[in-house]
Amino acid sequence: MLLRLAAERRVLFLGGKGGVGKTTLASAGALAAARAGRRVLVVSTDPAHNLGHLWDRRIGDRPTTLDAGADGGVLRGLEIDPDATTDQHLRDVGRSLRRLMPAHLAGEVDRHMELSRRSPGTHEAALLERITELVEQGREEHDLLVFDTAPSGHTARMMALPELMTAWTDGLLQRRERSRRLGAARRGLDGDHGDRILGSSAPRDPLEERDEEIRAILLRRRDRLAGLRAVLTDAEICSFAIVLAAERLPVLETIALHEELTRTGVDVGALVVNKRSPADRGDFLARRHAVEAEHLGTLREALPAVPLQEVPLGEEDVVGPAALERFAALL
Ligand SMILES: Nc1ncnc2c1ncn2[C@@H]1O[C@H](COP(=O)(O)OP(=O)(O)O)[C@@H](O)[C@H]1O
Ligand SMILES: [Mg+2]
Repeated sequence: MLLRLAAERRVLFLGGKGGVGKTTLASAGALAAARAGRRVLVVSTDPAHNLGHLWDRRIGDRPTTLDAGADGGVLRGLEIDPDATTDQHLRDVGRSLRRLMPAHLAGEVDRHMELSRRSPGTHEAALLERITELVEQGREEHDLLVFDTAPSGHTARMMALPELMTAWTDGLLQRRERSRRLGAARRGLDGDHGDRILGSSAPRDPLEERDEEIRAILLRRRDRLAGLRAVLTDAEICSFAIVLAAERLPVLETIALHEELTRTGVDVGALVVNKRSPADRGDFLARRHAVEAEHLGTLREALPAVPLQEVPLGEEDVVGPAALERFAALL
């Protein structure tokens, strides 16, 4: 199922707890797609990156070729640098704010931005900005973007951000519009701007110009987020694969994550149960296999419509391109 999603979708997210195999599966799926002729970018958004460890090479915040692919396909990888991304985001927001605030408040703006760096949500907002950028650009340069994400809670919250932020921006825009109309009506009553209504070329007042600029910034932001949301919620373009171990708590968490993503409008295209114990390698593992089967029963019952894929536990860790290729063949 994971390979089918990697072959058919344009954007694929993998999420789940730490250590379940997200990076391994994201890489293997991306590799298979590149060998099948797709231009693929695998992006790690988890600050605790392990894409580089897995490929046994240094990968930074710029696309690095990981595999030459075949038939015109190629696989590139990128690890988002959390600090640089947050810095860039704060610089952009700070620049807009400074332009819009009276000059003597520039110091205040800088102090505010410095405090924001440590406030909850800032990193998610910055990451979301970066993901938006990658989706906008990446869709031209790549046929498939695979996002290897950070453990669950964080990611589901981030997927809901475009909707929240669009609503927030819309609210602000509405309020601005209302106060603009009120202001215009008041000025109309005062009779001081009557000439403008008649279309004279009187100079615009700086406050009004600043209002226009704020509006333009908010509108641009809303359009970009709405664009991202349109991608995230189009099941033909984008899908989310939840990776888990066949254990009690991960199963419960998967059901909750599925619920959260579905509520946000994101398609959950696969449940990938990784490191499944073999039934035929001695009593201990056979018992483990049976216990896992019970947990998978709970999962199937709760989410009967979502394709479920089991991936066997291997004898060794998956490290390096050759091991990844072998691993991809298991999918
Ligand atoms: N099916 C598997 N069999 C054996 N080892 C696996 C399997 N899938 C993943 N691993 C190993 O488990 C560890 C964690 O995998 P990783 O993909 O880094 O998890 P995550 O990205 O979810 O934290 C790695 O050492 C990886 O090689
Ligand atoms: Mg990982």
